[in-house]
Amino acid sequence: MNKYELRAILLSASLMGIFLFAILYNVYARKIDVPTCIPYNASFQKAEIKEVDDLHYEVYIIAKMWTFDPGEIIIPPGSTVDFYLTSADVVHGFSIERKGVNLMAVPGAVNKVTVHFPDYGTYRIVCHEYCGIGHHNMMGKILVTNLTN
Ligand code: CUA
Repeated sequence: MNKYELRAILLSASLMGIFLFAILYNVYARKIDVPTCIPYNASFQKAEIKEVDDLHYEVYIIAKMWTFDPGEIIIPPGSTVDFYLTSADVVHGFSIERKGVNLMAVPGAVNKVTVHFPDYGTYRIVCHEYCGIGHHNMMGKILVTNLTN
């Protein structure tokens, strides 16, 4: 084997090791949720907000030209939310401001991320993948406030 080939292989393997370490370190030491891609299945048929436990929600979001359904999500402070995301048409982006969430809404696939909302506030959801003429108006909102019902 050529010595440059060997160097390239060793460098690639070292980089893979560093990336793997970075992911595992963030998941286990810093407890940061890594977005996951789960197989599309029939359970994801409608957009909804489900309270699965006290302060634990599941939100099923369908992105479509050019809205998020549901467009407004109201949860109490202290909530942990599992977002399940898919698209009804083209690829859309799903970014929650100030939360470091950056997902793609892909037709025929479901992406999942868990986000904790300890404080009151309003967080915009923005589509950050160009998806057509209405892209710049594609937004949603998460309102963290006391529920009144
Ligand atoms: Cu949806 Cu850009």
